Amino acid sequence: MEKLTGLKKFKTAVFISGTGSNLKNLIKFSKIKKTPISINLIISNTNKAKGLKYANQFNIRKKIFNFQNLKNIEKKILILLKKEKISLICLAGFMRILSKNFIKKFDGKIINIHPSLLPKYKGLNTHEKAIKNKDKYGGCSVHYVTSKLDSGKIILQKKVKITAKDDFISLSKRVLKEEHKLYPAAILKIFN
Ligand code: GRF
Repeated sequence: MEKLTGLKKFKTAVFISGTGSNLKNLIKFSKIKKTPISINLIISNTNKAKGLKYANQFNIRKKIFNFQNLKNIEKKILILLKKEKISLICLAGFMRILSKNFIKKFDGKIINIHPSLLPKYKGLNTHEKAIKNKDKYGGCSVHYVTSKLDSGKIILQKKVKITAKDDFISLSKRVLKEEHKLYPAAILKIFN
């Protein structure tokens, strides 16, 4: 990605569907001195996403799109992204699959955080799968988004040890803590 020069910040949109703890964490990251990004837009596929409250709290523009007619909606999103001069999209618990065409238009500028050590456990229920398979480690990955689900080039990964006492809840809590460090670190990596 482009080198960071002077005070220029890369305008970023965060796409969410749920709690938004990664969103909140990215907003915090966007306010520190060394950050390369500003968060200018929050997009959700549902008005039930709890994370939307951070738009009001931090005075960031939010937009909700129901993804029924993907082609139409993506067209509208692309117009909005252009209008807001967005140059990076961070998916953070966004539960919709974006089309090939949309991804092509933002090629190399969409990243995602996924709660597993990719390429292991693409898709859902990653922690259950890791525990069921008696894996020694779970973890999280930040990767570029391509049209193949959870398959783009990995930017950074963090391992989290799975103990005999772990269940899905305890493991997901520990991994989420690491996600909050990994996402900003991955953004720093791509802009440096
Ligand atoms: C995270 O575990 C993320 O890795 C996954 O969805 C979850 C979102 O959590 N893609 P939150 O909404 O950021 O709290």
